[in-house]
Amino acid sequence: MTIHLNIWRQDGPDKPGGFKSYSVEGISHDMSFLEMFDLLNEQLTLKGETPIEFDHDCREGICGSCNMMINGQAHGPNARTATCQLHMRSFKDGDSIDVEPWRASAFPVIKDLVVDRTSFDRIIEAGGYVSVNTGNAPDANAIPISKTKADEAMDYAACIGCGACVAACPNASASLFVGAKIAHLAILPQGQPEAGRRTIKMVNQMQEEGFGDCSNHAECEAVCPKGISIAGIATMRRAYVKAMLSSDG
Ligand code: FES
Repeated sequence: MTIHLNIWRQDGPDKPGGFKSYSVEGISHDMSFLEMFDLLNEQLTLKGETPIEFDHDCREGICGSCNMMINGQAHGPNARTATCQLHMRSFKDGDSIDVEPWRASAFPVIKDLVVDRTSFDRIIEAGGYVSVNTGNAPDANAIPISKTKADEAMDYAACIGCGACVAACPNASASLFVGAKIAHLAILPQGQPEAGRRTIKMVNQMQEEGFGDCSNHAECEAVCPKGISIAGIATMRRAYVKAMLSSDG
């Protein structure tokens, strides 16, 4: 199949950017969206043109690197699908596709489709450590955790930090990401000792990074490739108020 692409090209953070059109022939339905980019880059390299920079790592839907807006949707048209897991069979021969980087001032463009997401790392760092007992390995099941709680914590732990939530939010809020990170530890007993301090520091760091506030649009939940629920945002808010009202924070 042949696909026509309008891709955002930008040489650097302070350089002007703009869309450039490319047509890619010989695409197989079984290729992933990133493999289609590999094919395009091979063709550009052979022509002596600069290949398009895009982020990727695992290509298995678990690292969160493959962030791009595809036809205005974070990670493209398929629900619960990271760009690396999006296959060209989701498009038709002859389709035109617009591809852009995440747009948020807290995610500045580095080059082409690559944005700087280290603000997420700084939020995680601000959360600090979780205390663990050292010494011999503890007995299995020494800390009883109900199946419901374990499942809920696991659902939040599934966040891959890709930033689609920020990209889709009209306020460029990072609340779904931070909510997921706070909720997955807050639900488990192991996360309790530092819960208040962690919540306040992560929420404050989120604000310092320049992300917008959440106003419950729920676009984040709609585009999240891991289906993280906005209930995590409510958990974060409750935890924040509780920590601010107690000496815990
Ligand atoms: S490349 Fe790792 S999630 Fe897509």
